[in-house]
Amino acid sequence: MTLLAVENLQVEFDTRDGVVRPLSGVGFTVDSGQILGIVGETGSGKSVTAQAIMGLLPFLNGRVTQGRILFEDRDLLSLSETDYQAIRGNRISLIPQNPMTSLDPVYRGGAQIVEGLRLHTDLSRTRAAERAVDVMRSLGIPNAGKVFHQYPHQLSGGLKQRIVIAMGLCADPGLLIADEPTTALDVTVQAQIIELFRQTTREMNLGMIMITHDLGVIAHLCDTVAVMYAGTLMEIGPVKPVFQYPRHPYTQALLSCIPAMGMREDDLEAIPGNVPGVRTYPDGCRYHPRCPEVMAVCRTVPPKTAAVDDQSRVRCHLYPPDRGAVHETAG
Ligand SMILES: Nc1ncnc2c1ncn2[C@@H]1O[C@H](COP(=O)(O)OP(=O)(O)OP(=O)(O)O)[C@@H](O)[C@H]1O
Ligand SMILES: [Mg+2]
Repeated sequence: MTLLAVENLQVEFDTRDGVVRPLSGVGFTVDSGQILGIVGETGSGKSVTAQAIMGLLPFLNGRVTQGRILFEDRDLLSLSETDYQAIRGNRISLIPQNPMTSLDPVYRGGAQIVEGLRLHTDLSRTRAAERAVDVMRSLGIPNAGKVFHQYPHQLSGGLKQRIVIAMGLCADPGLLIADEPTTALDVTVQAQIIELFRQTTREMNLGMIMITHDLGVIAHLCDTVAVMYAGTLMEIGPVKPVFQYPRHPYTQALLSCIPAMGMREDDLEAIPGNVPGVRTYPDGCRYHPRCPEVMAVCRTVPPKTAAVDDQSRVRCHLYPPDRGAVHETAG
């Protein structure tokens, strides 16, 4: 069942130097039990996408100027702030990119997990505390009983991050959005948490959006991958075929940056050129200044999305869209 549908999303922010448009033409769906990975270089609009779904843009001097966000068949953009609050943190839970911002320094870590649990379940305080310690253990927190009683400033970055993940999981949401949730963690713990996300989504029939720089995480965890570049969606489809036969030159470049077994780091091919800033998105296809397959049309005309098959889409002039199809525009 389609849990979330984001359609042709466009976002603007007011800044001191005028309006910027960090997102345009972003669209995807997430089903219950499905994990969508969003990957892209820094500044490509991954966190803004999460903030838009969470309805947090108005607090960040921003707004959605085009498109729709449907969650459980409700049009989120038409909700009042009060109605949004009932969904935010309940039906849709965000593990934010910076875990420090979501922990309250005056409460012990465990108490913050328990508070969430008590809000969303009818567990007694004692049972909720037991459940919180269980979840902390399953996240690989050593001495979970002790950590439970510690204040955020007593915890390492990695432990704080895991407390925030525990809070996100305990909210018992329908959709979990995790924004780079494993960056502060070492590789072993990261693998453990990825496994836990996989189990949880299956057991709870949860939809999940995993935002990451790490194509390895996408390969291990996700069903579908959405590749973002400069505020727009370049390619989307099931992970296996996209990794095997990437269509977009940008996806191809990203994948060629993954080290193969036995490869030395300095053999790695980095994508030449820089990611453009939100004020200087180029005309035409935003990737054209870096694209090895650039054609004249790419410099002036923004490409529309083309269906590769019924599950995959690509936004590139190499793949002309069928005439008459519905297109998401970026520009
Ligand atoms: N509140 C804001 N006001 C103005 N511009 C913003 C705001 N938040 C984000 N931006 C801009 O929007 C663009 C997209 O930012 P976003 O945080 O979504 O990138 P990201 O893909 O999450 O990057 P990273 O991988 O570094 O987390 C950036 O150019 C950023 O500077
Ligand atoms: Mg981000």
